[in-house]
Parts: sequence; structure tokens; C-alpha cells
Amino acid sequence: MIRHFLRDDDLTPAEQAAVLDLAARMKTDRYGHQPLAGPKSVAVLFDKQSLRTRISFDVGIAELGGHPLVVDTQVTHFGRGETLADAGRVLSRYVAAIVLRTHGDDRIAEVAEHATVPVVNALTDTYHPCQMLADLLTVRERFGGTAGRILAYVGDAANNMAHSYLLAGATAGMHVRIAGPAGFQPDPEIVARAEKIAATTGGSVQVLTDPAEAVRGAHVVATDTWTSMGQESDGLDRITPFLPYQVNAALLGYADADVIVLHCLPAHRGEEITDEALDGPHSAVFDQAENRLHAQKALLTFLLEESA
Ligand code: CP
Ligand code: NVA
Repeated sequence: MIRHFLRDDDLTPAEQAAVLDLAARMKTDRYGHQPLAGPKSVAVLFDKQSLRTRISFDVGIAELGGHPLVVDTQVTHFGRGETLADAGRVLSRYVAAIVLRTHGDDRIAEVAEHATVPVVNALTDTYHPCQMLADLLTVRERFGGTAGRILAYVGDAANNMAHSYLLAGATAGMHVRIAGPAGFQPDPEIVARAEKIAATTGGSVQVLTDPAEAVRGAHVVATDTWTSMGQESDGLDRITPFLPYQVNAALLGYADADVIVLHCLPAHRGEEITDEALDGPHSAVFDQAENRLHAQKALLTFLLEESA
């Protein structure tokens, strides 16, 4: 069976742990794993902008002995009517895996439905599951594990990062608290799914509006931009309602003394996070960014092995 990674909960708790174990091994022995030797090619396609995802997949596929094909879809036929189903079928004849950053989840689902190789979600409007593997790897490095740790995400609780923290955090046995203003709350269906997962892993899920309540005693405080890609002209006030959710010294004062601060980047310094929080002693954001590389190498290796 072909294994795709479209949502965080496409990996069971045991599989997520295995991918993170492998990522840690790949980080210590960076050039010692060559599952894509041949080389096998991997297509990495972007409907939206990227720095980290683009470069970390490109470098990671090369380090696995493979050949990365990083393509902006504007130069393909994606935008002028070639169906995603046909693109999935055609690409499967050339490459060992397809990595796609796109808008709606229906788009990546259509590729996956017709592809005969693994398809990986490199961010959609609803999820950012590759980022979560990097975040969880960072939490493991700093705390020795994920289970039982409190993770507070504050800010736009309706975006892809919030949804992925719910699912990936619950899968990792974490106590996930998501806080955002009214009108920017997570999809209840995803919250329900996360609750179900948490019930099996010993984790928990809470959706709140009070940022201090979310951050109180937290081991991990995470945030993200208040304006995700594609929302620049959605007509909503994406500053005023979020001001109480800024990650700054005052908010971090409620957290555990050893709290780490995460941000998937790019950051809008002075909006969702201050320079002091991003550059300060609690920040783990650059380890987090580096861990995209190791986590994605492990993920690709796992999916290809499972699909063989
Ligand atoms: N965090 C993240 O996905 O960054 P990019 O948008 O630069 O890929
Ligand atoms: N929520 C952000 C994440 C960027 C990595 C966005 O979708 O733009």
C-alpha cells in the first residue's frame, strides 16, 4: 500500500515516534543514509512561496543520495487546466515521491488519489505536518521526550499550524493548548479528532481564548504569523484581535521556567513575537528550522520503505 503523509495523523503514535527516532539518528550521522541512491528522484512542487521547506527538501533529498526536482508550479500546466489527477499520474512515472505545497486540501488529496508513489504535504491551508515533525524533534532534544509536556500555541488558532499542533501534539502524547481570539478558533472537527487521539496517547487538548491561561506552566510556547499565505487581502483585521496573543516577555512569564519558544518562521517580528522572545535564551527556533531537514529525510525514508 502506498503511504502518503497528508495530515499529521497519517502517522500512528508508534510511527511518528519511529520517524522521530530515525530523524535523530540521521542528524548525528548526516551523510550516512542513502535510501535514494540510484539516484531516485523526488518532485517538490510549490503553489505558494517558501524558503525553509524548499531548501530543506532540496538538500535533504540530495543527502539521501537522490535527485531533487524543485519546481514552482506557475511554470507548469497546473494553473492552466491540467488536472491534478493527471499530474499525479504522470509524475508517478518519473519520481519516487511527490512533495507538494498548495492551497486547499482537496488539491493534495486529488494528487494522492491518483499518484502511485508517496505524496507529502509540504503545507496546505489546513495543515503543516512536516513542520510538526521538526517541532517534535526539537521538543525531544530539549526535554528528552514529548509525552506529558504542555504545548501552548497562541495566535491565529484557525490556521494550518494550529490544526497541525492539535493532531501532531496529541499523537505525541502532549497536553496541547490552543488559544486564539473569537473568530480565529480551530476547526471543531479537527479538535474532535485530536481529542480522540489524545485519549489513546495520554495527551489532552484544550481550546481557549485566554493566552495567559494557555501559557501557564507550559514547557513549549509556539506561535505563527497572524496572516498566512493567501490571507493578505481577506478583508479581516489581522492585527487588533491578536495583540493580546503576542509572544513576549510578559506572556512568557506565565510559562515553565525552562520553557522553549517555537516559531515555524518566517516571523513578523514585532507582531506575533518580539525580538526579545525570538532571539532570547528560551528560543529554539533555529534548531527547529534546522530540524526540518532531518525530520523530512526520515519521513521520506519511512514512507518509501512502507510503500515498497
Ligand atoms: N516554516 C516554513 O514552512 O517555512 P517556509 O514557508 O519558508 O518553507
Ligand atoms: N501559517 C503560515 C505558515 C508559514 C510557514 C502560512 O500558511 O503562511
